[in-house]
Amino acid sequence: MGMTAPAEPQHFADGMLPSPAETEALGGLLANALRPGDALFLIGEMGAGKSALARAIILARLAQLGRTEETPSPTYTLTQSYDLEDGLELIHADLYRLSGADEVEELGLLDPGAPTITLIEWPDRLGDAAPLRRLEVHLAIPPDHQGRHIAITALGGGWEAVAATVRTALPPQN
Ligand SMILES: Nc1ncnc2c1ncn2[C@@H]1O[C@H](COP(=O)(O)OP(=O)(O)OP(=O)(O)O)[C@@H](O)[C@H]1O
Ligand SMILES: [Mg+2]
Repeated sequence: MGMTAPAEPQHFADGMLPSPAETEALGGLLANALRPGDALFLIGEMGAGKSALARAIILARLAQLGRTEETPSPTYTLTQSYDLEDGLELIHADLYRLSGADEVEELGLLDPGAPTITLIEWPDRLGDAAPLRRLEVHLAIPPDHQGRHIAITALGGGWEAVAATVRTALPPQN
C-alpha cells in the first residue's frame, strides 16, 4: 500500500427519472438510507428537480414519524430546518442567494459535530467550505424536456448502504 490518498469519487448510479413520480420515489428511498452526518448535494440547472427531490426526502422522513407539515422553500431564508427523532436535525438549504463564505458559518450549515442530515441546493456556492464527504445528485433536463436525467456520485467513504438502496431504483445502465 502506498500513501493514503483521498477516496476517489465513486459514480454509482446513472439513469432517467421519467416523471415527478419517480423523483418522489427516489426521494423516499434516499430518506430511508440517509444517516446523521450525511450531506446531499443537489446539483443542476433551474427547474432540474432539486427542490422536488429534497421535498420528497423531507416528506418521507416526516411521514415515518407520522407527521405531515409544510415544506417551505428555503429560497429566501437559505435554510429550512426540521427536527426529526432523537435530536436529529434535517436541514434543507438553497444557497443560490448566498452572499459569501461568512454567511455559511452564520447559517450553522456545516457544523461537523452536529447530528444533522443536510440537503443542499446550489452547493457550488460553498466553494472551499464544501464538505469532502458528500453524496452528489446531478439532475439535468434532457433536450426533449421529457423526464430528468440523474447521476449520483459519492465522495468520501461510507456510502455503501446508500449506493445499494439507490441501485434498486436506478440499476446501472448499459
Ligand atoms: N422526473 C421528472 N420528470 C419531469 N419533471 C420533473 C421530474 N422531477 C421533477 N419534475 C418537475 O420539475 C420541476 C422542478 O422544479 P424544482 O423547483 O424542483 O427545480 P429546482 O431544481 O429546485 O430549481 P431551482 O434552481 O429554481 O431551485 C417541478 O415542476 C417538478 O414537478
Ligand atoms: Mg429549488
